[in-house]
Amino acid sequence: MRDLRREDILELLSLAEKIETGQIKPRMDGMLAALLFFEPSTRTFFSFETAVKRLGGATLTMAGTSGTSVSKGESMHDTLTTIDQYADLIVMRTTQEGAARYASEVLRAPVINAGDGANQHPTQAMLDLYSILKTQHTLEGLTVGLVGDLLLGRTVHSLAQALSDFKAKLIFASPSHLRMPDYIKEDLAEKGIEFMEVAQIEPYIPELDILYVTRIQRERFADPDDYEKVKNSYIITPEMLRGARPNFRVLHPLPRVNEIARGVDDTPYAYYFQQARNGVYTRQAIISKLLGLV
Ligand code: CP
Repeated sequence: MRDLRREDILELLSLAEKIETGQIKPRMDGMLAALLFFEPSTRTFFSFETAVKRLGGATLTMAGTSGTSVSKGESMHDTLTTIDQYADLIVMRTTQEGAARYASEVLRAPVINAGDGANQHPTQAMLDLYSILKTQHTLEGLTVGLVGDLLLGRTVHSLAQALSDFKAKLIFASPSHLRMPDYIKEDLAEKGIEFMEVAQIEPYIPELDILYVTRIQRERFADPDDYEKVKNSYIITPEMLRGARPNFRVLHPLPRVNEIARGVDDTPYAYYFQQARNGVYTRQAIISKLLGLV
C-alpha cells in the first residue's frame, strides 16, 4: 500500500467510479493476464477474472499448484519467469510475504499483489476505500473500527495504511496476542494518525462510521489449539448495532466464518457483499492504469 500516494489512490478511485458508471470503457483486447493463485481465493480470483474479461482481455489461470510443475518441485521463481514469457500482466497470491514485491523486481510484466501471506492485500484496500467512499461520500476524518485478527490478517494492514492518508481515527479490537503489528502502528504514529487498541468493540459502535470485521486466520496458526482459544473472540450481532449512526456500515473482506451473525445481513448496515462487487470496478481501474489503457 505504501507504493501508492494519496493522489494515486484518489485517481484509482475516480477511475473505478468512471468505469462503474460507464463514463469510460478501457479495453485490453488481445492482452493476457495471468492469475497465479498459490493460495486459495474466491473473491480476489473471480473478481480479477471478471475485471479482465469485462475489459476484453483473456486470462491464464492457476488456482492452486496441483496440475502445474510446482508439484514436481519447480520453484516459484522459475514458475513466474516462465509465465512472464506469456502474459502481459501477472496477478499473484502467495503464502510467502514479499513474494509479489520480489516478482515485481525481476519480471518483465507488471505485477499486482493479490495477497502475500500475512503481509499486505493492497487491491483489497482499494476496494475497501471505494466501498467507504460510496457509503460515506468522503474518505476524510472517518472513525473506523477494525476488529478480529489484526496481526495475521493482511487486509487490515493495507487498509490501516491507506486510511492514514485521510486522517482517519482508528479503533483496533483484537485478542491481545493478535494485535496490529508494530510496523503499521509506527507508520500511523509517524503520520499523526489517532488510534487506540481495545479488547471489545461494542462500546465504540455508536461512534463508528465503519466497522471492518475480519476472520481469525486459522490457516496461519502453527498450533490448532491456539486457534481454538480465540476463534470465537468476536461475533457481531444485530443487537450490538442498535445504537449505530445512520451512515454506519459493516464491511468484511470475506470469507466470514462466524464473526458476523447472519442476522446482520438483514440490517441496513451490512455492506460486505456490495463491497465484493466493488472489487471488480477497482480491479478494472488498477489493471487499466497499470497497462496504460486510460
Ligand atoms: N477478500 C479476499 O481476499 O477474499 P478471497 O480470499 O476469497 O479472495
